Amino acid sequence: MLRRLHPEQPESFAFTPANRAWAEAQITKYPEGRQASAIIPLLWRAQEQEGWLSRPAIEAVAEMLDMAYIRALEVATFYFMFQLQPVGSVAHIQICGTTSCMICGAEDLIAICKSKIAGRPHELSADGKFSWEEVECLGACANAPMAQIGKDYYEDLTAEKLAALIDALAAGKFPQAGPQNGRFAAEPAKGLTSLTEYVNASIKLNASAQLADEIGDTVKRIDGTEVPLTTPWLGKGKGKSAKPATAKAEKPAPVKAKSAEAKPVDTEASPKAKAKPADAAAPSPGTKPAGLEAARGGKPDDLKKIKGIGPKLEKLCNRLGFYHFDQIAAWTDAEVAWVDDNLEGFKGRVTRDEWVAQAKTLASGE
Ligand code: FES
Repeated sequence: MLRRLHPEQPESFAFTPANRAWAEAQITKYPEGRQASAIIPLLWRAQEQEGWLSRPAIEAVAEMLDMAYIRALEVATFYFMFQLQPVGSVAHIQICGTTSCMICGAEDLIAICKSKIAGRPHELSADGKFSWEEVECLGACANAPMAQIGKDYYEDLTAEKLAALIDALAAGKFPQAGPQNGRFAAEPAKGLTSLTEYVNASIKLNASAQLADEIGDTVKRIDGTEVPLTTPWLGKGKGKSAKPATAKAEKPAPVKAKSAEAKPVDTEASPKAKAKPADAAAPSPGTKPAGLEAARGGKPDDLKKIKGIGPKLEKLCNRLGFYHFDQIAAWTDAEVAWVDDNLEGFKGRVTRDEWVAQAKTLASGE
């Protein structure tokens, strides 16, 4: 099956502030020069925000990761989990059509999708609320037939139950996720044959269904404000929330359709430099350390000797006026906080990699 960009594309894409903070925090998980490893979570978050991956979204992610657009496009078009066309505004329903589900009635479920949503997969329903597709095994074969709707699995389905689920979602309700035939999880359909007592009889739902029940929404788009993100990998006590204190999700950029044909993909294009001047950003925590116009005597130190600094970070440091080990060695905690916050795409690296301690050693000639 060919997977191509949709002919109708929005003009632009922007992460909500909270989703952007989340994405930037993900990038800090990877070492210098390996930021591209964050491509899957960032594309996924873009899809969770918009419902599908538009070309501007793919390009925005490529720019954040300093990747050529074609590399991000390769990932987005390779994995079927990425939707390359608009999906239903309420839900995109994924029916498993692999062996177990097929034997147990997946074709009846697909018939319901065709009659209630649209005749063909990936086609929007007349009201734009739903879309559907057939997917390969989703790993819930013991509860066949099943469908994934939004973030959750709906298992042990029948045609009637799927029709009722679609009606409930159309009415703005949250249908309970998990097995739809009263089973707790994937125990024998005719009842338990061993370990016949539940440890805690008061627990009525399995863990996944319970979580879905607590969230109370299976199809909500993710704007990043749902759960504050902590970044424990930045060090004890250094983790921070990616949820801005007054986080208010920005509306996604207005969608003005344009033809993808009008602007062919420049397969070798490098992302446009989006380096944001540090001083133009929102107020940073801490204090900006004094920088130099240029290296003393025209001879900068090789900052790459500091573990964690590669060519890109070295250039970024130089742009901020830092050329010498002794400059970094003298940073106070407040100055570290400022630099950590202003390393676009590498936030938190000063603390994570202990630049100051390393610079002190290097400045002393060791
Ligand atoms: S065959 Fe449908 S979930 Fe595995």
